[in-house]
Amino acid sequence: MTRLSISTAITMLALGVMTQASGLCDKDLKVSTQSDLDTIKSCKLFGGTITIDSSPAGELALSGVEEITGGLLMSGNTALRTFQAPDLAKVKGELRIVNHTVLGKLQLPKLVEARKLMLSVLPALEQIEFSAGLSQVDEAHIEDTHAPSVSGFKPEQLRSFTLISNNYLRQFDFSSVKDVMGSLHVASNGNGLDFQAKQLMSVQTGDFRHVAQLDLSALNRVTGDIMFHENNFSQLQLDQLESIKGSLTIANNNQLTLTSFHHLGKVGGAFSVGNNTLLTAIDGFPSLAEVDGTVDIAGNLESYALPALEDVRGGMRLQTTSSKLACSDLEKKMKGEGKNVVKGETWSCGASLAEEQLQPTLGQDSPAPAGGFNMVGAPGGGSSGSFSGAKGFANEKGKQGAVGGEMTSLALDLNPAMGWALLATGSAVMFGL
Ligand SMILES: *[C@@H]1O[C@H](CO)[C@@H](O)[C@H](O)[C@H]1NC(C)=O
Ligand SMILES: *[C@@H]1O[C@H](CO)[C@@H](O)[C@H](O)[C@H]1NC(C)=O
Ligand SMILES: *[C@@H]1O[C@H](CO)[C@@H](O)[C@H](O)[C@H]1NC(C)=O
Repeated sequence: MTRLSISTAITMLALGVMTQASGLCDKDLKVSTQSDLDTIKSCKLFGGTITIDSSPAGELALSGVEEITGGLLMSGNTALRTFQAPDLAKVKGELRIVNHTVLGKLQLPKLVEARKLMLSVLPALEQIEFSAGLSQVDEAHIEDTHAPSVSGFKPEQLRSFTLISNNYLRQFDFSSVKDVMGSLHVASNGNGLDFQAKQLMSVQTGDFRHVAQLDLSALNRVTGDIMFHENNFSQLQLDQLESIKGSLTIANNNQLTLTSFHHLGKVGGAFSVGNNTLLTAIDGFPSLAEVDGTVDIAGNLESYALPALEDVRGGMRLQTTSSKLACSDLEKKMKGEGKNVVKGETWSCGASLAEEQLQPTLGQDSPAPAGGFNMVGAPGGGSSGSFSGAKGFANEKGKQGAVGGEMTSLALDLNPAMGWALLATGSAVMFGL
């Protein structure tokens, strides 16, 4: 603060601005009317936080201020239709614009930096545009807006990113981003969403739902879990991906016909593929050698090919409605003479099962990440509790072990004494229980 005050003072002296303003430029400001904002017009650098939360104004403009060292926090201004900050380039704290039911125009033409960006519950906002290119953001959360697209989103690196419940959103250009150090959540936007993340190389956790087109073609490392639920794309291609430290879940994608993960060698948690109605083959994983959790596969699968798989430390379960897949062949490969691919004790394979007999695979029922105001200020900036890191049976004895994560009902669903044994009641072939 001291350093900032000094630099403020120096800046202002250099510009010949009256020192009378310097006190005003350095303390937090609570705004109700335009004249409150006008008192800081001469503050190019504003050394505090500006809060606008019960203003009756229909229009507000924050002019003159180029940088805010604290936050700009706006919420619940029920009459506000237009807000503009024509000179604002940097917000070193949080830029928070939430709960404005009639805000239709938001103009931030010079904004290039905001440590945390929170846009939420803005049902009248039809355009989100950062014309100068928002290139520095740590955490971004965009939820429940009316915008069909967002333009000028240009960071290379982010700590977390959440894009949820923007029902009109058709396209999001995430292609500037190379690294997400925490979580990346994209869910429940307009069903036709095209999410382009073509330069993204690493992410900690990824959760993609209700996406119609997804480009993750450069993704190389996932340091936590990654899941794909209820998407509408027909192909899932992540051919640069080499390792997933947590679990991989591909579930309930009813248009999916092709998976392609050519370089994926290791999954540190569970490998779970379930209820992708049109997916008839488990293939596209030619390099997958090691799965430290459970291999859990269910659907209408006619063929199975995990040719490089030589070490499954958890159990394995395969359930298919097809009669084309021979469980006896699979057993020979995985558990036969001299083979000890599956180390966990739990092993089951069922073919010709009826649809209703299929047990949900690990993570198939996991709820979408929570959105809303409670996300704000969550420790670590957004990784919600729904990422349990469920690894299924991760240890050699086939006991439930959610390594490195809390135990959740996901793992409990797989109680071998109950869930898995149900398979025996169908025309399933069972081994090793
Ligand atoms: C939204 O703003 C209105 C009006 O100020 C307030 O009554 C309401 O509680 C706010 N809702 C949330 C979720 O903050
Ligand atoms: C989902 O994909 C199918 C097949 O490509 C298409 O017919 C349908 O319109 C898509 N649905 C949405 C909501 O985009
Ligand atoms: C299978 O996925 C579809 C969506 O693709 C979903 O509607 C259905 O509920 C899922 N079935 C189960 C048993 O989860």
